[in-house]
Amino acid sequence: MNFSKILNLVLAVTMLVLIIKFSPSTSTSKDAATQEDTISTREAVLSTIQNRKSVRHFTDKKISKEDMTAVLKAGMTAPTGFDARPWKFIVIRDTAMIKKMRKGLVYARGLDQATAAIVVCGDMTKVHKSDPEFWITDTSAATENILLALESMGLGGVWSTVYPSKKRMAFVSDLLGLPESILPLNVIPVGYPAGIQKAKDKFDPTNIHYEKWSQ
Ligand SMILES: Cc1cc2nc3c(=O)[nH]c(=O)nc-3n(C[C@H](O)[C@H](O)[C@H](O)COP(=O)(O)O)c2cc1C
Repeated sequence: MNFSKILNLVLAVTMLVLIIKFSPSTSTSKDAATQEDTISTREAVLSTIQNRKSVRHFTDKKISKEDMTAVLKAGMTAPTGFDARPWKFIVIRDTAMIKKMRKGLVYARGLDQATAAIVVCGDMTKVHKSDPEFWITDTSAATENILLALESMGLGGVWSTVYPSKKRMAFVSDLLGLPESILPLNVIPVGYPAGIQKAKDKFDPTNIHYEKWSQ
């Protein structure tokens, strides 16, 4: 084999390598990987939503500050009317304060074992004048985000009612020294679940109507 034949062979091999490297089939496999990522993200999100359950029994393990911040970040990602974000979150980590809160909230039995709690509040200085009642819907959306974030992180919590009872709202406001413009919606006891608690399957196709109401 003379020198020019060797050179041609080397060039041919180099071309082949380049063609394989930049061929469309490579980008197709990239597309497939992206598609797989999308599917696993979808499964992860739906499984978090479907596995969310009210957790009222907790171990002694405390939630870290970083995890609490991640949970609150999820809360503040919720949609709000006029993008007003009319919320404030009071984080309680002092167990003496949790006990005091429990005394005035007869339904909040999740507080009995909780090592932390989040009081979700509406900020009436931030609501849009035309729809001040949006504080309820907006903080409810934030609450659901918080509950989902807890579920996804192996933590748990339960929406414990404060609003709409004027008595409960006044109790929480007094205890936490809330200004008049800050209205408590609920308390979420937070912690690591103790025991196994299962989500309920609530899917009921009779709740769905297509195009218009049908009997
Ligand atoms: C507006 C609202 C108020 C609630 N109040 C309480 C409460 O005060 N105490 C409590 O233990 N659970 C409370 N819950 C939790 C419900 O009891 C719970 O969501 C329901 O039984 C369904 O169970 P799941 O959350 O495990 O799907 C409340 C939930 C909502 C949405």
